[in-house]
Amino acid sequence: MSTESRQPITIAIGNQKGGTGKSTVTVHLAAALGLAGKRCLIIDLDPASGSTKHLGVPIDSFAGTLELLTTDDALESLVVTKDMPRGVSLIPSRPQLAEIETHLSRFMDRSRLLERAIQESTATYDFVLLDTSPSAGFATTVAAYAEAQWFLLTAFPHPLSLAGLDEAFRDIADVRRLRNPSLEVLGVLLTNVDRRARRLRSQVETSLAAIAPGRLFQTVISQAVAIPESSGRGCTVFQLPGGDHLPSAEQFLDFAWEVTHRIAHRDEFLSGTLPPRLGRDAPTDSTRLVA
Ligand SMILES: Nc1ncnc2c1ncn2[C@@H]1O[C@H](COP(=O)(O)OP(=O)(O)OP(=O)(O)O)[C@@H](O)[C@H]1O
Ligand SMILES: [Mg+2]
Repeated sequence: MSTESRQPITIAIGNQKGGTGKSTVTVHLAAALGLAGKRCLIIDLDPASGSTKHLGVPIDSFAGTLELLTTDDALESLVVTKDMPRGVSLIPSRPQLAEIETHLSRFMDRSRLLERAIQESTATYDFVLLDTSPSAGFATTVAAYAEAQWFLLTAFPHPLSLAGLDEAFRDIADVRRLRNPSLEVLGVLLTNVDRRARRLRSQVETSLAAIAPGRLFQTVISQAVAIPESSGRGCTVFQLPGGDHLPSAEQFLDFAWEVTHRIAHRDEFLSGTLPPRLGRDAPTDSTRLVA
């Protein structure tokens, strides 16, 4: 079934704490979905430009998110596709995005900043991934929370990261009440998980089960040197030599499978009756991937 006329599935990736794997997960989820034949647009909404840097795009070389949100420039004229993973396009960010407020009319509703971009992405993309800044009050973060259909939280198994999640869940409740009643939590992904820190991980899992029952992803992303290495080379782990066989690559593919499984079975997932995971090799009914 064609997804041409449907709104893309829009996922905001967030956590109010800095350095909790948001950008790493964004680029790898996009790359894994791209390998599964999906077309993904990443919009880097963070002036720190995490996704942009991870994908090897020199910041300051391209117009990008700032122009997308403050001018009438067409989305496709701002998209970077060169040297991107298969199926992935990027709207890059740069530090000047931090000054977005000076470019916006005081009468502009911040929560509608991304509306045009999502409309323009409809014909081309299956997924739009919004990599957010850790600053919850920042204009682009407000816009991402207000425009997304799904919210994906990333966390390191660390008490500080968990405190960020608590705050994020309170914000999501406010966003649902005040701006975007259809925003749903897609899940919490634990990443940078050190095998030796088992006790800490299980504490985090217990706390999460209480804050967000049923929302923790079964897949966890291990701590792996391949991840900062790929970032240093400006690519994802899939593009490293022999990358397809790295444990991190397998984990991101498993994670992408869980993401599409939850979205494809939205009603069961949201009501807590999602059938048990069958495994990535089981056929996914992609025709059920509805916006
Ligand atoms: N699974 C992992 N194994 C090893 N290092 C990781 C892993 N995940 C992320 N990192 C590293 O942790 C650091 C922070 O990750 P990342 O930039 O994705 O976080 P972030 O939440 O986007 O940060 P910010 O809030 O500053 O935007 C990076 O150096 C990244 O390479
Ligand atoms: Mg980041």
